[in-house]
Amino acid sequence: MQTGLDREQYAITARQAAAEGIVLLENSNQTLPFDGGERVSLFGRTQFDYNKSGTGSGGMVHAAYVVGIHDALSRSERVTVNEELAEVYRVWRGKNPVRRGVGWANEPYFQKEMPVAVELARKAAKQSDAAVVVIGRSSGEDRDGAFTPGSYLLTEIEEEMLHAVCTQFSRVAVVLNTGGIMDMEWVKKYRPGAVLYAWQGGQESGNAVCDVLTGGVNPSGRLTDTIAKDFEDYPSMSHFGGRKRNFYTEDIYVGYRYFETAAKDRVLYPFGFGLSYTAFEQTAADFSLNGAGDYKKAVISFSCTVTNIGDRPGKQVIQVYTASPQGRLGKPAREMKAFSKTKQLMPGEAEKLIFEIPLSGLASYDDSGASGYRSCYVLEKGIYTVFCGDHVRTGSIAGMFEIPETTVTEQLSEALRPELPFEKMRFEMSGEKPVKRMEPASLRTYALSDRINKNSLPEREKTGDRGWKLADVAGGRITLERFTGQLSENALCCLVRGEGPRSKWVTPGTAGAFGGVTKELRAFGIPAACTADGPSGIRMDSGKAAFSLPSATALGCTFNLELVTGLFSFVGKEMRENHVDLLLGPGMNIHRNPLCGRNFEYFSEDPYLTGKMAVAELHGLHTEGVSGVIKHFAANNQEHYRKKVDSAVSERALREIYLKGFEMAVKEGNAVSVMSTYGAVNGLWTAGSYDLLTHVLRGEWGFRGAVMTDWWARMNDEGKAPSRLNLSAMIRAQNDLYMVVKSSRLHRDNLKRGLRTGKITREMLLRSAENILGLILRLPVMQEAGSDIAGGSAISEPTR
Ligand code: BGC
Repeated sequence: MQTGLDREQYAITARQAAAEGIVLLENSNQTLPFDGGERVSLFGRTQFDYNKSGTGSGGMVHAAYVVGIHDALSRSERVTVNEELAEVYRVWRGKNPVRRGVGWANEPYFQKEMPVAVELARKAAKQSDAAVVVIGRSSGEDRDGAFTPGSYLLTEIEEEMLHAVCTQFSRVAVVLNTGGIMDMEWVKKYRPGAVLYAWQGGQESGNAVCDVLTGGVNPSGRLTDTIAKDFEDYPSMSHFGGRKRNFYTEDIYVGYRYFETAAKDRVLYPFGFGLSYTAFEQTAADFSLNGAGDYKKAVISFSCTVTNIGDRPGKQVIQVYTASPQGRLGKPAREMKAFSKTKQLMPGEAEKLIFEIPLSGLASYDDSGASGYRSCYVLEKGIYTVFCGDHVRTGSIAGMFEIPETTVTEQLSEALRPELPFEKMRFEMSGEKPVKRMEPASLRTYALSDRINKNSLPEREKTGDRGWKLADVAGGRITLERFTGQLSENALCCLVRGEGPRSKWVTPGTAGAFGGVTKELRAFGIPAACTADGPSGIRMDSGKAAFSLPSATALGCTFNLELVTGLFSFVGKEMRENHVDLLLGPGMNIHRNPLCGRNFEYFSEDPYLTGKMAVAELHGLHTEGVSGVIKHFAANNQEHYRKKVDSAVSERALREIYLKGFEMAVKEGNAVSVMSTYGAVNGLWTAGSYDLLTHVLRGEWGFRGAVMTDWWARMNDEGKAPSRLNLSAMIRAQNDLYMVVKSSRLHRDNLKRGLRTGKITREMLLRSAENILGLILRLPVMQEAGSDIAGGSAISEPTR
């Protein structure tokens, strides 16, 4: 299909995004940029063997090319690369080729590094003005990082290389090509002039790194995670990587919410931090709380004028944090509530950014009734302060206001309550000091099945085949309900099973197909929709080339929503060209711990930034009529034992941290499809969690789309072991689609038995069938199948 995809512009946009995602952490003595025709020596094999992404499904994009750092710098007219040294590396690499590992999730974390003797560094230093040291790391799906040399820590050979280079060169920049953050204590030891995180920036990354090193782009990336002094400092540390039950004892105190509240001195680089080659000044003004009579609708507004007071053009990111009163509910010292990036400001130029923040967004979730109100978002009485600055620590006060009476902003009801008592962290202020307390999260008080019974659906008429096709629904001639009334139980059971990977019904090599995956279903004019990984480009195992994007962490670090939307409209066009309807992404899990293997697929430790980035991606995809599957819903925060581990999380932490981004993607981003996880939350495997998928997602957030499982996921009944065949539990919870089976027609799950025994009803199957068909009706495949959908190709707003 011709979509007018401008590949050159696609590459330019991806290069810009990769460059804006680069975070400059150190730059003493004007080490960077190299803009005086410097002669540069490049160290580290990763200059050639660049990691465009992490591993697993999210990284398997067959890129047509990957620009490495040596490639880009040697082509740049701004520097001259020491080719004699490069040749030493080439020869060594010939004898020490890259090892990819054998089989799924067996890729090594790092590649064997060439030892750099002091003499080699000394010789190179005589030949050049500056050095760049490139260090690479990998991790990914089914493979968490490890607290070992070569993963979180430097190897001995890397330390020796840094020692040799930093003692011989006066100008050294270290570039980190990693999926997420790693130990940074070595910066103090070797003191390189400049340090930057380039992340895994996709196929254009080498160019992006070159742009930043040589000053073509002034760095404007900001950290989306806190970098602590020591791995042990992360509050999830003691309960990360568990095999059976993973207790989220840190509760809402994830990332900077913990460090800024209780461990400020354990931070090396704070959340939101990043340097520029220029300097900015910012002043907040015009603060007001509008509509304070109605706290549910009131809006905080103010402006912030940013001026470039340095001597180079550059962009600044303004971040807004709030501090809520320490009432009966403990509160983090800072919570991000808004951000905005300026345009490129010339020296002396200023821009006024306007911020409007709904007051209700400052409310905390009370799951215990401590505030006097239970199962609701509540603004506790007291003083609220709004800070505006360029990272979590620098904010100056933009304004303050008082809420005189504790006020409920949204009454919800209990859901996803932990099944077992466990301790959770809480801080109270004692004088100026936060005091840590552990309190138990309580027992659940009712059985899930009670809710399911309450949810019995009215009986529906079975009409048999009336000759109506799905196109009749699209054309407005019949309702979806009348259409599905024709489907036999067998057809309904097939419809809720997706096929793949590499299904014959869709684009070769993609992850899955759903909808018209049997002859019977196709006879009703139901096409097969195509879904492909995601999130960092289209994965086609047929070997067909697709564009490899910067990783989600890199995109998060841009803090540039417009740029991300623009990039994803190119992705949307590329999906149209390849007949892919849904990208399996954005990945939206929270960086709870730096070792999570899939952190590269996720944006941040902060839920607000995560939500905003996902919304930006969805908007880009929606402009082209395709969409994304927001994943993994929810709390997929470690890869180790991901199919078995049960995340024990408080309702408050779920609402404020782990579900928040998803809520934003549904409400603001009009997400039409969700992927549940492999694992469990509070005792129930998410693909069978009624609380998560019906009560919260649809009931509270108004989601009107389809939920699919992760590939070959398992579901359980309360208190029972999970099974891949328990599709009845899945349908009851309104996880509509099982992904994936080999042949939908032949699959032996418990759906038919469930219908016979009354565990599920035909109406529950119809409900899921309509969710799936409702989704297909909005996707390009429906038009491509020759139907007469009205209203153009853009994803329509959901009717809530
Ligand atoms: C991953 C998903 C992915 C799916 C399809 C699973 O193993 O967890 O994120 O979308 O495979 O490839």
